Amino acid sequence: MYKQIGILTGGGDAPGLNAVIRAVVRTAVGEFGMKCIGIEDSFDGILGEPKYTKLTLKSVSGILPRGGTILGTRNRGSFVKIIDGKPFFPEMPVEEALKNLEALEIEALIALGGEGTLGIADQFRKHGYPIIGVPKTIDNDLAATELTFGFMTAIDIATEALDRLHTTAASHDRVMILEVMGRHTGWIALHAGLAGSADVILIPEVPFSFKSIMDKIRQREKNGSRFTNIVVAEGAVEVGTQPIYTDKEALRLGGVGSHLRRRIEAETGKESRCVVLGHLQRGGSPNAFDRMLGTNFGACAVRALANGQTGKMVALRANEVVTVPLSDAIANLKTVPVEGQLVRTARDIGISFAAPNESKL
Ligand code: F6P
Repeated sequence: MYKQIGILTGGGDAPGLNAVIRAVVRTAVGEFGMKCIGIEDSFDGILGEPKYTKLTLKSVSGILPRGGTILGTRNRGSFVKIIDGKPFFPEMPVEEALKNLEALEIEALIALGGEGTLGIADQFRKHGYPIIGVPKTIDNDLAATELTFGFMTAIDIATEALDRLHTTAASHDRVMILEVMGRHTGWIALHAGLAGSADVILIPEVPFSFKSIMDKIRQREKNGSRFTNIVVAEGAVEVGTQPIYTDKEALRLGGVGSHLRRRIEAETGKESRCVVLGHLQRGGSPNAFDRMLGTNFGACAVRALANGQTGKMVALRANEVVTVPLSDAIANLKTVPVEGQLVRTARDIGISFAAPNESKL
C-alpha cells in the first residue's frame, strides 16, 4: 500500500474538479490511511522547485460545490509541444519530474484531465511510475467513457442561455446565435439545442450549408415564426471551409457565430445578434450530477491505485465506474453519431442541422 500519493489537475478546468479532489483525499486518508499531496499548476508543479500543498480532510472541507480547481491548472505546460497540430512529448521533463516525485516521497499519482493531460500521464506509465487518470472535459469527447464530469453543468448553462435568448429573439423578431464550446465535437450544442429548443444546431460532425440555414429561417417566417434561434459549436464548419480561429497560432477557436450573424443579416435584412457563451460554461459551481460523478470517479481512482492498478483511467460504462487502459482512453475521440438517435430525434421535431441536403433527410 502506498504511504503517500499525489494528485494534480491539468488542461482547461471543468465544474466538478474539486469534487474529485475531495473524494480522492477522503478515500485516500479516511479509507486507506494514505497521505495526500496536491501538486499545483498541473504537471509543471513537479518541475524545478516543486509547488505543492499537503491535502488533509480539513483542507478539502467545503470544496464540493466550488468551481475551478483548488490546485490550479495549466493548458499545455512543459510536457507537451504541439508540432503540426499534433501533440509531441519531450523526454526531459518526465525524468526531472520523476526525480522530484521521489524526493517528495510521492509514490503514485492521480491525474485529472482531458486528452492532453492523460497523454502526459501515459508517459509516466511508460516510465513505470504508478499513475491513474480521471477523465475531465466539458466537451464530453473522450471515447473511453460515456460521460465526463462538467459536461452536464455546461449543458445546463447553455440551455439556460438559449431559454433567455428565446424570449428576446421572439420579442424583437431577430435571429439569435449562441456559440458554445466544442472543438471537435458537438455534444454541448446538440444536448443544449434539444433542451433549449433551438431551431438550428450546427456541429463539427455535420458540415453546414449556409443556404440550408437561410431555407430554415425563411420557412419559419412563412409559418409565422419571425425569429430563429441557432446554436453553433465553435468547431462547426461550412462545407468546404476550415474552422474559424480567434488565434490560429494558439489553435484557439472562435468566431463562427459572428461570422454567421453578419452573413444572415446581410442576406435576410433581419436583425441578428450573436452571443459567445465561452468560459461561462466552464466556471462556477458543478450541478448535482457532476458532483456525484466527480465524487465517484475520485473514490474509484484511489481504490484502483490501492488495488495495484496503474496506467489506467476511470471511466463510466453502463452506469458503473470501471478502469480502462490510459492508452485506450487517449486513442479515440467520441464524436456525435450523425445517424444516431439524438440527431434523428432533433430532426423529427423539426430542428435543422443545415446539412446541404437537409430537407431530404
Ligand atoms: O475543454 C475544452 C474546451 O472547452 C474547448 O471546447 C475550448 O476550445 C477550449 O476548452 C478553450 O479553452 P481555453 O480557453 O482554456 O484555451
